[in-house]
Amino acid sequence: EKARNALCRFPLKNVRGVPLMEPIAQNFEAIWAFCPDPSDLLIATYPKAVTLHILFRTGTTWTQEIVDLLLHNGDAEACKRAPTAVRIPFLEIHSPPPIPSGLDLLGTMSPPRVIKTHLPIQLVPEGFWENKCKVIYVARNAKDNMVSYYHFDRMNKTQPEPGPWEGYIHKFMKGELGWGSWYDHVKGYWEEKEKRNILYLFFEDMKENPEREIKRIMKYLDLTLSDDVISHIVELTSFKVMKENPMANYTFIPKPIFDHSISPFMRKGEVGDWVNHFSASQSQLFDEDYEKQMKKANIPFRTNI
Ligand code: A3P
Repeated sequence: EKARNALCRFPLKNVRGVPLMEPIAQNFEAIWAFCPDPSDLLIATYPKAVTLHILFRTGTTWTQEIVDLLLHNGDAEACKRAPTAVRIPFLEIHSPPPIPSGLDLLGTMSPPRVIKTHLPIQLVPEGFWENKCKVIYVARNAKDNMVSYYHFDRMNKTQPEPGPWEGYIHKFMKGELGWGSWYDHVKGYWEEKEKRNILYLFFEDMKENPEREIKRIMKYLDLTLSDDVISHIVELTSFKVMKENPMANYTFIPKPIFDHSISPFMRKGEVGDWVNHFSASQSQLFDEDYEKQMKKANIPFRTNI
């Protein structure tokens, strides 16, 4: 009931040129002042790129689950201690209950913590860089990322209405969605990855060979786990298993906020689903614009595997 009363699709407000959900924008000074411990790990993504617990359809949730399991030596029960959003605070989030506010939750936990963010690199609090925290970034190809974000905006009642698909494509290209431009986001972290020791991963690589990518994360975290434990983590973090795991599939969030009957949080988890959404002319328009925006970037994205 409390959640229902607090419910609204928040408008976006610009923070240093980046559109963010209004409660995040209002609270930004406190977020910017957050100072992590050097042992804290940040998982950063544009929404829907598979977060370790980041909120933006790029595999954040997936990465979060992998990292949590790696840190607990593959102990599935330990990783069911609470929903992802509680195990791995979402730094900037300021949503209606039961989604806990990121800063409040961080205040109750002691380091080392795993923290999720969707903030573009220039809005990540400077303490993360000053303290040389480890940062894992996960990127997903623009078309699949946008499809996933679109369905997420339909089911997540705290985000602005996505409106029709055709218009959504234009909003995405112009960087008008929450957390701003996908193009600037993926480029921002890419350009800094060496200098700031960021592990830059691709959703498509994780789908192609999860074992290889999980081992890369393990090495980056200076962990050594047996091959058996790694295989177990591959299994536990497969789309099928995570979709059924109530501690990873976001079903703990009440229907007035996340309406899984419109589109489940764990929707398809595939590479190349964009072909089922883009018409030929939309795809051409998108590709032409992509060339312009990504020309100098040279980031090896794949739209199918
Ligand atoms: P789809 O909408 O294409 O299914 P985020 O966690 O950043 O919000 O990203 C969500 C996207 O990651 C969704 O994409 C979701 O299905 C996908 N995802 C989550 N866990 C996954 C897993 N274990 N394997 C593959 N995809 C996963």
